[in-house]
Amino acid sequence: MRVAVAVLAGASALLVAGCGSQGIVLPTANGVSGTLAQPTTTPLAKGDPAAGKKLFTSEGCTGCHTYGPAGSHGTIGPDLDKLAQYAKQANQGTLPQFVAQSITTPGAYIQSGYQNVMPTTYGNLPAKQIADLVAFLTQK
Ligand code: HEC
Repeated sequence: MRVAVAVLAGASALLVAGCGSQGIVLPTANGVSGTLAQPTTTPLAKGDPAAGKKLFTSEGCTGCHTYGPAGSHGTIGPDLDKLAQYAKQANQGTLPQFVAQSITTPGAYIQSGYQNVMPTTYGNLPAKQIADLVAFLTQK
């Protein structure tokens, strides 16, 4: 009954307005049933430092970076034992945010004294692996 009235009202509104879609009143759903999709991307997943350690070697990070916990001595990139200090100077969000950004978008912030030569392909790693690397690099 209500619906019929609404449609009638809509029809007359349309007549008066003479144009436009605003005049038409259509019955609308009263609510949504079922589950709504939850956002699947949390900003930073929780990583596993042990898995990150393996990735640090298998992804070739050791070739360019010195990092004590990985036993690496690369010098093309910054010494990651000083990462917390560098992150503070960079002032690009929290330490984990800065590290994640440095891995996925190396050019976003260039550590002073270094070239923008870090591969950009790490941005294609699964989020979980990024999180693992971040956990490994921020564990201390
Ligand atoms: C070809 C050499 C190279 C490889 C391989 C490489 N990096 Fe880098 N990385 C660099 C250079 C050079 C910089 C400094 C320029 C910059 O800030 O982007 C850097 C910067 C960083 C920074 C930011 C440090 C700072 O103080 O700004 C992090 C974190 C980092 N790399 C982590 C990694 C991780 C993790 C991997 C492996 C998944 C990796 N890098 C692989 C060369 C490399």
